[in-house]
Amino acid sequence: MIDVKQVSKYYSNNKKAVDDLSFSVRQGELFGFLGPNGAGKTTTIRMMIGLLQPTEGEITINNLSVQRNKKQVQEDIGVVFELPNLYLRSSIRDNLKLFGDLHNVSNARIDEVLDSLQLLERQNDKVSSLSKGWKQRVLIARALLHQPKVLFLDEPTSGLDPNTTALIRGFINNFKQEGTTIVLTTHDMHEADELCDRVGIMCNGKLAALDDPSKLKSTHGKRELQVEYNRDGLAVKETWPVDDVETAKSVYQLMSSQQMISMHTKEASLGDVFAVLTGSELS
Ligand SMILES: Nc1ncnc2c1ncn2[C@@H]1O[C@H](COP(=O)(O)OP(=O)(O)O)[C@@H](O)[C@H]1O
Ligand SMILES: [Mg+2]
Repeated sequence: MIDVKQVSKYYSNNKKAVDDLSFSVRQGELFGFLGPNGAGKTTTIRMMIGLLQPTEGEITINNLSVQRNKKQVQEDIGVVFELPNLYLRSSIRDNLKLFGDLHNVSNARIDEVLDSLQLLERQNDKVSSLSKGWKQRVLIARALLHQPKVLFLDEPTSGLDPNTTALIRGFINNFKQEGTTIVLTTHDMHEADELCDRVGIMCNGKLAALDDPSKLKSTHGKRELQVEYNRDGLAVKETWPVDDVETAKSVYQLMSSQQMISMHTKEASLGDVFAVLTGSELS
């Protein structure tokens, strides 16, 4: 559905924000970019939707060049960005109506989208009276009105409370079940892990790895055992590798001498994978 071919972006200061990126997104896939602030996620997504011209390389959506067929491509996509650009003095419904009229969207479709994002009860409230989480839902509703084939979401849950975050992740999952291809960016490893079919780990404008989350964790992450045991009357906490014969010996020794207090295995996280691949921590 989406093909990104050797794309780079230099801003005027000659810093490479995106550095020779190539990847594809399949139809119906939920694809995520995971990386800290400044990694190049927003720059990449802005080039994918035709808002920013790549310095080098080409991007196609549905076999159409984004750069050469911007109008046509934009009919097929919906975008949700960090910066809210809603009409604050208009109601939720009027905001959708204004956008819908540009795309010949029926009132029935507006009702349907309001319903699916649980916005119906406040459809006549002014956007200025809404919390950040409600505004985000209006932005998502607006992006979906014209039934885009691909939905782009830049940091869809950034700065939202845990309940709203869970609600929005649920919506994103529903859109995927309905067959929409989705590209999102996040700096939250749990979000990437929970939602995405495949995750591109981004650092300094490059993809350090690209695979499904469980493969990333099994290939690059290491499983650890957190033990707490008695040593000379003191409780000591240590972390040992799981797949190590020395760990097995120590565990046997501590358990048979009844010095073991507790032990827990810790599965690798995408944060661990990120640290292994890039030598730095996620923010
Ligand atoms: N308009 C701009 N002009 C100059 N540099 C920019 C601009 N936008 C982003 N950058 C730089 O490009 C890099 C990538 O930024 P961005 O794509 O926003 O990353 P992310 O979305 O992963 O936080 C950063 O170093 C950022 O400072
Ligand atoms: Mg960003």
